[in-house]
Amino acid sequence: MKIAVVGTGYVGLVTGTCLAESGNDVICVDKVASKIEGLKQGVIPIYEPGLSELVLRNAKDGRLRFTTSLPEGIDDAELVFIAVGTPQGDDGGADLNGVWAVGRAIAEAIRGPKIVIVKSTVPVGTNAELARLMAEVTRVPFDVASNPEFLKEGAAIEDFNKPDRVVVGVRRPEVGARLKELYAPFLRTDNPFLVMTPESAEMTKYVANCLLATKISFINEMANLCEAYGADINEVRRGIGHDQRIGFSFLFPGAGYGGSCFPKDVRAAIHMARGRGLPARMMNAVDDVNEAQKDVLGRKVREHFGGDLAGKTVAVWGLAFKPRTDDIREAPALVLIDELLAAGASVRVNDPVAIPNVRAIYGDKLAYCDRPYGALEGADALAIATEWNEFRNPDFEVMTRLLKSPVIFDGRNLYDPARMAALGFTYHGIGRATPPPARVDG
Ligand SMILES: NC(=O)c1ccc[n+]([C@@H]2O[C@H](COP(=O)([O-])OP(=O)(O)OC[C@H]3O[C@@H](n4cnc5c(N)ncnc54)[C@H](O)[C@@H]3O)[C@@H](O)[C@H]2O)c1
Repeated sequence: MKIAVVGTGYVGLVTGTCLAESGNDVICVDKVASKIEGLKQGVIPIYEPGLSELVLRNAKDGRLRFTTSLPEGIDDAELVFIAVGTPQGDDGGADLNGVWAVGRAIAEAIRGPKIVIVKSTVPVGTNAELARLMAEVTRVPFDVASNPEFLKEGAAIEDFNKPDRVVVGVRRPEVGARLKELYAPFLRTDNPFLVMTPESAEMTKYVANCLLATKISFINEMANLCEAYGADINEVRRGIGHDQRIGFSFLFPGAGYGGSCFPKDVRAAIHMARGRGLPARMMNAVDDVNEAQKDVLGRKVREHFGGDLAGKTVAVWGLAFKPRTDDIREAPALVLIDELLAAGASVRVNDPVAIPNVRAIYGDKLAYCDRPYGALEGADALAIATEWNEFRNPDFEVMTRLLKSPVIFDGRNLYDPARMAALGFTYHGIGRATPPPARVDG
């Protein structure tokens, strides 16, 4: 099939690349000229495991092309995906300016029938409004379909190639049938292709993200309760997870959720509820709990140092909002860094891939370290904000030598408190009792 993907970010580039890899003829469109120029030269603008090789191979084979010209990009295409950003607007709702601009530009440019597929996360009613807006501009027949994306950054290729399910929202069965053909190569293991109305499809994405965010805020609140009463959330997790109604997945406490999706999608759901006079009590609570939780590491650091961080140096491991991505949008690490800097501390940071994005914001306010151990040199404590695999099994002896004092604030519960105490660390996890460190002589 001939496909255009408008918006070449985390979702658009992965979508375009994976569709090209399955044999389609794909052109990716973006308004940022430097991004498109880079892609034409083989420079991949984001870090996503496995993406680079796929982009390069498909571009070389001529199945994947790039342009800044939307009219050129969509001219030949039967299917046009919209994958532009829908960030949080000033009123808390999704900012749809990108979607409207692309819809209008498509309507102005089309010369033959097209299926326009909204992959961006958009509030209920957007597909209908987009179709209405486009019909004001063009007489050429077109369809608008919803196809929310469920991929996870850090595992985006795997998720796109083997989705748990594909959801499409269509007005005509023929459009659903065409999209089923497009996705058939990705659903060979009989995972479902679910056809529904555009309204239900749009809502499905919000319900999924709101529930996932709820699980995180729930377990974080329970973790804080555990900590206050001397219980260990890790043991409690095991205690509840075997109940099949509960399960184990996505119930890991931490320093709050971040990223480009959960925070804004929860707030967009709240905004949608407000639009119909509904209260959204749970989503407000989920958001409030998360905002408070993002301060958990900063609070623990402040308490440990008696509220005085002036002149202290803190190492921070992990800057991306989660492992295996360079995405730092709404990352809890940045909340911690802001707090440390505001309190007069020096901050030494390490992350396997996100340093360039962090440097673009903080410039020379931070010390950037290529290696995790480098960040520890002369630091009064280490705080871990993201659970990259390389932080899971460090050499603790080397760490004690490099740190000025062996103190760890572990926002992802990577280590065992008893073992850390035995090694002489003062170890603060999330939702776990903090055993006093054993005396280490010498
Ligand atoms: N990132 C994720 O993990 C994820 C997962 C599922 C769904 N989504 C949703 O997918 C959408 C895209 O998210 P993303 O993370 O890929 O965003 P992103 O910011 O990484 O990429 C968006 C791209 O769209 C381009 N763009 C914006 N306006 C444009 C226009 N008028 N014409 C051409 N290009 C334009 C931008 O330059 C950018 O390259 C959002 O609605 C998001 O909520 C994201």
